[in-house]
Amino acid sequence: MLPDANPIYGESPRCDLHADLHEIVARHCGEKTNLLQLLIEVQACAGYIPADAASYIAATLDIPRARIESVASFYSFLHLKPVGEYRVLFSDNITDRMLGNQDLMEQMCRQLWLQPGKVSEDGLLTINTTSCTGMCDQGPAMLVNGHAITRLSSQRIQEIGQLIRNRTPVAEWPADYFKIENNIRRGGLILDNKLAYGEVLQTTKTITPETIISTIKDSNLRGRGGAGFPTGMKWEACSNAEGDAHYVVCNADEGEPGTFKDRVLLTRHPDLVFEGMTLCARAVGAKKGFLYLRGEYRYLLSHLQGVLQRRRDSELLGENILGEQGFDFDIEIHLGAGAYICGEESALIESLEGKRGVPRNRPPFPVTHGYLQQPTAVDNVETFCQAVMAMHMGAAAYRAIGTEKSSGSKLISVSGDCASPGIYEYPFGVTVRQILTDCGAVNTRAVQVSGPSGICIGEHEFDRKLGFEDLPTAGAFMVFDDSRDMFEVARNFVHFFAHESCGFCTPCRVGTSMLKQTMDKVAAGHGTQHDLTEIENLDHVLQTTSHCGLGRTACNPVLHTLKHFRPAYESRLKSLDFEPAFDLDGALARARQMTGRDDAGAHLKESE
Ligand SMILES: Cc1cc2nc3c(=O)[nH]c(=O)nc-3n(C[C@H](O)[C@H](O)[C@H](O)COP(=O)(O)O)c2cc1C
Ligand code: SF4
Repeated sequence: MLPDANPIYGESPRCDLHADLHEIVARHCGEKTNLLQLLIEVQACAGYIPADAASYIAATLDIPRARIESVASFYSFLHLKPVGEYRVLFSDNITDRMLGNQDLMEQMCRQLWLQPGKVSEDGLLTINTTSCTGMCDQGPAMLVNGHAITRLSSQRIQEIGQLIRNRTPVAEWPADYFKIENNIRRGGLILDNKLAYGEVLQTTKTITPETIISTIKDSNLRGRGGAGFPTGMKWEACSNAEGDAHYVVCNADEGEPGTFKDRVLLTRHPDLVFEGMTLCARAVGAKKGFLYLRGEYRYLLSHLQGVLQRRRDSELLGENILGEQGFDFDIEIHLGAGAYICGEESALIESLEGKRGVPRNRPPFPVTHGYLQQPTAVDNVETFCQAVMAMHMGAAAYRAIGTEKSSGSKLISVSGDCASPGIYEYPFGVTVRQILTDCGAVNTRAVQVSGPSGICIGEHEFDRKLGFEDLPTAGAFMVFDDSRDMFEVARNFVHFFAHESCGFCTPCRVGTSMLKQTMDKVAAGHGTQHDLTEIENLDHVLQTTSHCGLGRTACNPVLHTLKHFRPAYESRLKSLDFEPAFDLDGALARARQMTGRDDAGAHLKESE
């Protein structure tokens, strides 16, 4: 059954943590690897993680209290102090901005007499922003106590403000607020598939794991999570790796701004995803799998758990699957808690182990040293779906779709300036122009392909093709028409990277912050040519010294928009000479206010 509305989980806004804590901890069997899941449940119940709950968990799991605080402080949805009974987070992707999220947030702050980021004096609420919530086709969007609300309008904000003022539990808010659309605009191999659940497992029951791997290799399937690694090679390496146990992990973190196709796949085709994971388990010899679901998609949890149970009841999961002795496999769902970096596969594995999501050194790669240092195959949601189709059709038929180096189809998440945002499926090789025509985009100035870490292309490149030969993509396709300021687009992306840097390595932690400050300086009219040159130097440092892909791609939005839309930058520059990034006079404003002075002597002169 498909969820047509967002089911409310837990109590809202509060439940009785004292009564529930023992049960929550017991449900997670006292496993240290479940620490993050445990903290997420405590947060959902109490609205934050109280100190006595942290102490109790530390004692029960036999871990230092400091570890709990360290883990909780890493994830933006977890709080160690009360942050309001109602926690309102406005999705702040550039597409939300284009749909007016800033005005709506201001309206709500005015209505409820609150500044962004502050807790109201009565402890009722906080209002803040969060990174893209994966609802770009139906924005502006927000999360209230973790529940996604889309299609925000001034009227809806007014109503929500009133519900909060009246302390109406979120569970009693109008169901329509929580309705999340699939917006499938163009189907294809995956979205139009008519497979019955279990069909491909049944037909492949008699073939060996080696044959599954060789079919996937021959199909030329490449990962859909961004990097495009050959899936068959990954499964083979994992299968060949020595270990006490093998694992399969489905990456449903989908944090790249502008991407939402995995959400639709999990809503519409969860059986295909789980079938792909089970197929992979058979190929690599895994008995256990995890689906790592981003916290923003928590509303899908009960739906997905229902599908897993149905599959267990149908002998498609559990022991001796479909009667095959020794083919045991089951899947557990783990939730994320608002950290983009956990989409990076080694950070995801750390998070699955209940730790801070800091990327690991690679090599060794997860295929040999993944979950609990055991061989692990990590694949994107869509990759598992494509693998099922490749097995179903056979390698040659699958390879015949798409282009020579990019087999099969690709799901594209289209958002921004177009008449029909939503999900489009195409064989690889489709041109950017074709997608723009299909989604009803006019006067398009630029397209951001594959999110902020991807590539921004201008009008003269619209005949380029999506595929690993030309424009590789994880699926985001954000459209900007000629009314848009591409400098502001890049500035939004740079803020995103600075916010999401995990802080582990200095070049990225400091570099993304410097990049943000430089873009803010240019936006404030204090920028110079020197700043633009500095960004290029910074890119070199980040490219060569960052620990993971986030740092390495952080400068891309600026470099790409500088290349195509340099006037948007130059029109803001104050001079060609050096200007300090720090506005000293501005910083003294508070001192002036406190001393009641605003005369000329209390200001720095231009020349100082
Ligand atoms: C910063 C960062 C974020 C990432 N986020 C995701 C993500 O949300 N989903 C995803 O499937 N892959 C993501 N990846 C790629 C994964 O590390 C990994 O390559 C992918 O899950 C492998 O699956 P695939 O071979 O099926 O593509 C990210 C990589 C980086 C560097
Ligand atoms: S590059 Fe950035 S996100 Fe990646 S590990 Fe370093 S600090 Fe963390």
